[in-house]
Order: sequence, then structure tokens, then C-alpha cells
Amino acid sequence: MKVVEANHESIQQAAKILREGGVVVLPTETVYGLAANAYDLDAIARVYAAKNRPTENPLILHVSDREMVIDLARAWNVSAETLADRFWPGPITLVVHKSARVPMMVTGNLDTVALRMPEHPVALDTIRSAGVPLAMPSANRFSQLSATRVEHLDPELLAHVDLVLDGGPSRIGIESTVVDVTDEPPKVLRLGGISRGDIEAALRHSLGSQPPSGLRRSPGMYLRHYAPNAKLVLVKAIEKDCPGLTFGEAGAGQVHMPLNPSAYAANMYDALHRVDQPGTTEIQVEIPPETEEWEAVRDRLRKASA
Ligand code: TXA
Ligand code: MG
Repeated sequence: MKVVEANHESIQQAAKILREGGVVVLPTETVYGLAANAYDLDAIARVYAAKNRPTENPLILHVSDREMVIDLARAWNVSAETLADRFWPGPITLVVHKSARVPMMVTGNLDTVALRMPEHPVALDTIRSAGVPLAMPSANRFSQLSATRVEHLDPELLAHVDLVLDGGPSRIGIESTVVDVTDEPPKVLRLGGISRGDIEAALRHSLGSQPPSGLRRSPGMYLRHYAPNAKLVLVKAIEKDCPGLTFGEAGAGQVHMPLNPSAYAANMYDALHRVDQPGTTEIQVEIPPETEEWEAVRDRLRKASA
């Protein structure tokens, strides 16, 4: 069986597979990831193939300690240090200038690399045991819904994978916030598990505005992304018989969602997977409040509806 419960033995097995060039699905606190040794070009190619992802989309490298960062980053400034110190391990990814050791294939030929130290103990232990940074995009096919439970994993993706560690549901449920710290002030490239407000509080100054070239700099900004198979429509109030997500009472085929942004994020992908049944053509989702704390959730829903 490819899917095994995450424990000491299976983590060692995963680490061995990774050292030998295999690809493994791991739980993280944000979403499940599809991992490969960052220094192994064949393994990286397998990740792109498993996801059916265009190779110009750069991957995030995941580290278990700061020593690994030294090998990967050519420059590390005050903003990088401040954010890593405050939020690592955790759901923030820092884009920095890459060292020569980082393969161009990982960064889509960019001169920068995205780094994250995840908080999930299974992810951390696996990286530590493998002894190398892991390239780990979300474990979903290109432009599809991310997975926050092993039940969400696409069979076509699984066909390319050597082992899956089941660590239960992801606690945060939305991808990491990606922050470009190569320039002052730092800029958010993708909203996620850490809010803009928390980042600005840590930096003690404002973030820069979105780069105009964002579309090319961060493929997380593709118009359609994080999407179910059915057409997703954002609505004020859900229709009675349409499958979807509602803040009110849920009818048949509908899921009731909490009016709290963290709780909503933790359940969002699972709820979307549940209503995205074969044969369903349209899913309606009630628009969350327009306030800043809902920004990351609104971003994902807008992209899923594009
Ligand atoms: O929470 C997460 O970040 C998850 C878990 C598994 O760690 N990973 C994840 O990876 O969401 P992925 O590949 O699905 O999304 C990576 C995002 C993309 O939006 C990509 O454009 C951006 O990070 N990114 C990666 N390297 C970059 C770089 N050098 N410059 C700008 N953006 C980069
Ligand atoms: Mg992704």
C-alpha cells in the first residue's frame, strides 16, 4: 500500500526514498506537499510530471534548520531574518536571492529561490532525516484544488508517487504566504497562512504594493488556480438546490462554513472537494466579508472562480 500512517518507521522510509531519488507526499500544516530532493534533477522532473505543471513555475524549497538556508540563499537581509525569526517554523515562504547550488530547474530560471521551514513535525522530521532540502509544491494537479487530507489526492498524481504519509487533516488548510524580501520594502506575492497585518507588525513597517509584473514573478498569481472541476460561482446568497458553501443553514449537497477566517481556511479545501462531485456542473460559494482578515480566503475563492 502506498498510503501509510506517518510514524517514526514510515518517516525513515520516506527519507530513504527521497535520498534515492523518489517522490513522496507529506503532510504539512498548510496543505499536503509533493516532495523531492531539491538537488536531484531527475526527482524534480518527476514532481513537475506528477503535477502536470509547467516547468517555468518555481518550487518552494523546504528546510528543517537554518544551516540548510546557508546553502541555498546567496543573500539574507534584515527583513528575511526578522520574518524567519518570527514565523518559522510556520506558514510563511521567503523569496531570496539563490545560491549557485540551487538548480535552475527548481526556480524556473529565476535568480531567486523560495524557502520555507514548515511547522508540521512529520514534514520537519522527514526533511531532517533525508538530510537535504525538499522541493515541495502542493500535492495537487496543476490549477486544481489543493489537498488538506489524503482522501483529496488525485489518482493521476498518486500514480507518479512512491509513498504517501498520512498525517491527518492540515491544521491551517491554506497555503503559505509568499513574501519577496529581495527588495525593500518586502512584497507579498501570495496571500496565505500569515496575514499582511501580522507581517507588517513583525517588520514594523508597511509592505510594498503588489509588483505589476506579479503574473510572471509568481505563478500562484495565475488567474485560474486552486479550482474545483465544477464551475465555481461567487454569490451573495446560495440558491436552495445548488451544491456549495454557505454561512447559513446548509441544504442537501451544501456545506455550512464558519464565519471565522481561520476556521474557514482550515475547512475550505475539504468543503470544496466534498461538493465537487462527479456530475456537478456548478458550485455556488457565498462571498466572505470584505475585511482584511478574509483576504487570503477571498483570494483563493476568486481564483477558483476565474
Ligand atoms: O504552503 C505551501 O506553501 C505549500 C506546502 C506544501 O508547503 N506549498 C505550495 O507550493 O503551495 P506551490 O508550488 O503550490 O506554490 C508555490 C508558490 C507559487 O505561487 C510560486 O509561484 C511561488 O510559490 N514561488 C516559488 N518560487 C518563487 C520564486 N523564486 N519567486 C517568486 N515566487 C515563487
Ligand atoms: Mg499549489
